[in-house]
Amino acid sequence: MTRPPPRDASRDLYRRPKPHPAGAPRRDANPPPPDAGAEATAKVVTSLANPVVKELRALHLKKERAESGLFLAEGLKLVTDALEEGWPIRTLVHASRVKDQPLVVRAAKAARARGALVLEVSDEVLVKICRRDNPQMVVAAFEQRLRRLADLTEPKGVWVALEGVKDPGNLGTIVRTVDSVGASGVILLGDVTDPFALEAVRATMGSLFHVPLFAASLADFAAWKRAHGVPVWGTHLKGAVDYRGVDWPETCVLMMGNEQSGLSDAHVELCDGIVKIPMAGRADSLNLAVATAVVLYEIRRARLDL
Ligand SMILES: C[S@@+](CC[C@H](N)C(=O)[O-])C[C@H]1O[C@@H](n2cnc3c(N)ncnc32)[C@H](O)[C@@H]1O
Repeated sequence: MTRPPPRDASRDLYRRPKPHPAGAPRRDANPPPPDAGAEATAKVVTSLANPVVKELRALHLKKERAESGLFLAEGLKLVTDALEEGWPIRTLVHASRVKDQPLVVRAAKAARARGALVLEVSDEVLVKICRRDNPQMVVAAFEQRLRRLADLTEPKGVWVALEGVKDPGNLGTIVRTVDSVGASGVILLGDVTDPFALEAVRATMGSLFHVPLFAASLADFAAWKRAHGVPVWGTHLKGAVDYRGVDWPETCVLMMGNEQSGLSDAHVELCDGIVKIPMAGRADSLNLAVATAVVLYEIRRARLDL
């Protein structure tokens, strides 16, 4: 038997750069480079009673996030992703003991260059801000970005619409999956969990900063669908069509139902087709994020390669 020639890992693996998926632009036209800007002069804070520390800590509360329009991103990776994508930053906090790490210095410089306050804090203060015993060494407050669906005027690619998603972990996982599969964005329908809650942000693993989020009422969504003629496919346990048998168009909306009650009749009525994922065992249904991933990978199958 002839063996295939050995693979040259350095040439073969990681070879192709990922093309940018079709759809809405994901980054600001000209975000300043992350290392642009002023020299480091962090304000040192050790007091738990510092007003900025209190404000950052308050961002764990939905009410405070709604009023301030801000949210917290934890960890150097997330903060760097957000800076690179041009998300407006207000405050960056880092632990004193990482102040000389090159990536922290770079992030702090970029934040300062964009007018953000940079604080160097004790571990104790970080514990208080993050409300946990093992906090990340870098935390930042960014401005939220949730767009109106009416502003999505050229909806190319695959969009995921979520009816009344309630679990922040599900929402974050779906945003991460949308990013992974090269879909275009997420449309939040009706009363949903806050996409800027810490648990949701964590679950996105940074994809929050690359995937555009839109919000709409059902009526707004119906008007938008009429205006742009985008086909909408729903998923339902009573669907008669196997999701593997659809000739998926390049541009469409995949609509997913709520965790408890599924897709409501009013949402089903807006769909051009309803698919089901076959279920072989005794489980009633799949988890929302898992079902979204299964169908999304099928929709994008022909457009994905390694
Ligand atoms: C946990 S399920 C909801 C279950 C709910 N009790 C119901 O009756 O629909 C959450 C969402 O995931 C999707 N889903 C889960 N399993 C599915 C399946 N086997 N086929 C199609 N969609 C599914 C649907 O969008 C559903 O609304």
